Amino acid sequence: MKSQQPAGYLVEQQREIVEAYITHERSNKPQSNSRNKYLSDKIRRLLDKKNAVLIAHYYTDPLIQELAEMSGGIVSDSLEMARFGNHHDADTLVVAGVKFMGETAKILTPTKRVLMPTLEATCSLDVGCPADEFATFCDQHPDRTVVVYANTSAAVKARADWVVTSSIAVEVIEYLDSLGEKILWAPDKYLGGYVQKQTGADILLWDGSCIVHEEFKAKGILDLKQVYPDAAVLVHPESPDSVVQLADVAGSTSQLIEAAIQLPNRRLIVATDQGILYKMQQAVGNKELLVAPTGGSGATCRSCASCPWMGMNSLENLLSCLEVGSNEVFVDDNIAQLAVQSLDRMMRFKAEYLS
Ligand code: 13P
Ligand code: SF4
Repeated sequence: MKSQQPAGYLVEQQREIVEAYITHERSNKPQSNSRNKYLSDKIRRLLDKKNAVLIAHYYTDPLIQELAEMSGGIVSDSLEMARFGNHHDADTLVVAGVKFMGETAKILTPTKRVLMPTLEATCSLDVGCPADEFATFCDQHPDRTVVVYANTSAAVKARADWVVTSSIAVEVIEYLDSLGEKILWAPDKYLGGYVQKQTGADILLWDGSCIVHEEFKAKGILDLKQVYPDAAVLVHPESPDSVVQLADVAGSTSQLIEAAIQLPNRRLIVATDQGILYKMQQAVGNKELLVAPTGGSGATCRSCASCPWMGMNSLENLLSCLEVGSNEVFVDDNIAQLAVQSLDRMMRFKAEYLS
């Protein structure tokens, strides 16, 4: 495995923008249960009136997840978000998550209007893989099949042969490896490394990472295991290899929730964004969930197991995007026509081999 330099400065710039945005939003908007109920009720009425459906990721605010479920929408991992939007008969898809999720919905369902609570919520993997630099990297390796993670811009997807999400990555690479294909993988070096280990495929890696999962440290988990030796460890494979090695189960967000249900352990250490605890705790009411430590003992917590971009979604901006019809997602036609091919390949693979 080899790797390419990251666009790390862009990620740092984004982090500062996000922190300023969230601080500003929180200082302006007092939270209270009655206000949240007022906003939720109003959003539900508007969803009905506008024949719109709410599609939320597990990492969004539990208030948004609850609303998605109660209003006939869905809370899921990124693959199911794409599939659900594509099959639903609403005129408008409201995607609460990060930018690539809204773009994917628009590319797969171009006839529908796609709105997002904010268009500023991106992802360090997307930011760290600019389309022009990525195209140059691909041009340098024309003999490789280009597989990109869903956490990328539409333009990067347009340059790819395949798109995968974490719930399907191992299976797709296994399949391509069985055809004798060599892979160029972007942008997450940790997920790419995990897939390489699982499949033994020949994979050339782009050097990107998720700023949230990168913060989990093996030492912190080992320390926690000293206190709770009976606990099973659940890890999203965007985490570093030393952390994945400690996992009883590694997988996508929905696979981790399923593992929490299936494992016999009464206590679970969870190494992914803590937004997942809302649905996971509902699924395993009798089990104790512990967020895996970030940064190691004594270190400063930079993400605290909480994606800053997912945190930009709120009831307030969800309501305002529905009221005004603002934050509509558009994807350039030429880019969309190419990106839909690599996305379609993933959707067809899922329907044919994994359903
Ligand atoms: P999932 O596809 O597992 O939901 O992951 C999306 C993501 O952004 C994880 O950080
Ligand atoms: Fe991107 Fe990481 Fe946030 Fe997921 S948790 S959206 S990979 S920055």
